[in-house]
Amino acid sequence: MSILHDKRILLGISGSIAAYKTPNIARLLVKAGATVQVIMTDSAKGFVTPLTLSTLTNREVLSSFTQDDNDNAVWNNHVALGLWADVMLVAPASANTLAKMATAAADNLLLATYLSAKCPVFFAPAMDLDMHKHPANKKNIEQLIANGNMHIPATSGSLASGLEGEGRMEEPEQIVARMASYFESKSPLSGKKITITAGPTYEPIDPVRFIGNHSSGKMGYALANVAAKQGAEVTLISGPTAGNKAHPNVSLVSVTTAQQMLAACLDVYEKTDALIMTAAVADFKPAEKANQKIKKQEGVATIPLEPTTDILKTLGKKKQHQRLIGFALETQDALRYGQQKLAQKNLDGIVVNSLADAGAGFGHDTNKISFLQADKEAVHYPLKPKEDVAADVLNHLKNMFDER
Ligand code: CTP
Repeated sequence: MSILHDKRILLGISGSIAAYKTPNIARLLVKAGATVQVIMTDSAKGFVTPLTLSTLTNREVLSSFTQDDNDNAVWNNHVALGLWADVMLVAPASANTLAKMATAAADNLLLATYLSAKCPVFFAPAMDLDMHKHPANKKNIEQLIANGNMHIPATSGSLASGLEGEGRMEEPEQIVARMASYFESKSPLSGKKITITAGPTYEPIDPVRFIGNHSSGKMGYALANVAAKQGAEVTLISGPTAGNKAHPNVSLVSVTTAQQMLAACLDVYEKTDALIMTAAVADFKPAEKANQKIKKQEGVATIPLEPTTDILKTLGKKKQHQRLIGFALETQDALRYGQQKLAQKNLDGIVVNSLADAGAGFGHDTNKISFLQADKEAVHYPLKPKEDVAADVLNHLKNMFDER
């Protein structure tokens, strides 16, 4: 899947002959799975039709502050557009539009949206060579770069004027590749397949009862969602939980028992780059599940138990290229037990948290962890929202990938 998938892109088109290439930019972005909203200046319409662009993007093309095709003019909200976008691309950026962007002029919708945009902005200049090399134009380009915009430089070649030189807008394929590599650099886990387990397991006693625990799954869902936002391809294997929402790019596999969780992990293990085991797997299960509800008239039932398979230990034994991270929730001596589990389960890292710390452990929206690795100093973190804890854990994982 392209890194541009699901990205919201504002394509600002200003008046230059290079505007004829913008349907191709729109087509490449849409093909990559992006949503493209075109904003054109009036002069751009002389070079490419709004109909072509709206057909390719499947959205209405905007160019004025109001939609006044009926009596009650509707305001095209440039502030909302600027907030909606993940990125804005001004291509072609004519000398006139560049100059206005550099000086905060806002006499059309494209410019007002540019000034309102909170997202990164790329601009791809296109003009005749003498305009391009004019010191005033160079100064405007430098100003835009200094303001934090990303310059996609014009290339050299034959120009519409018949002259040869620098001023051609970069080719659509290169522009789209520049944007993709920008998002890749912001998505440190891009290309990585990460499996995360979450929640409790339920081990059935009879058709209505089970052995379970209080795990809410919040930590596992937070990890899965943050990893997905950082570009990873995430499989989340979750025991029964309520109220958690997985990011749309997470593939969710729902399981109930430890045995099912093990099978789901083994299914994806070969193709997984890293597996993070946050699930609170039941350590014991009834040796046999009663087929019918156990009746109280039968007296106090004794339920013989047997151990479940230790999923993490099993995966640790099979480990090849995978990075394996465990969680240990302890009530005392947390670091010592954590170190033991790290070694016994053949892990690359273990996240230790203690029920003795207020705000840590089951059900909370916060957690306080230490991260242990065999050959490194333990890293201790303060109490944080689980989303931030997830980012810390994923940072350790990134370092593990980089060290390989
Ligand atoms: N784990 C597992 N399979 C089990 C039990 C635990 O994969 N049957 C995993 C947990 O998901 C966690 C790690 O092992 O990542 C440590 O779990 P924890 O319950 O803290 O330790 P246990 O090995 O079960 O030992 P104990 O309960 O005695 O502390």
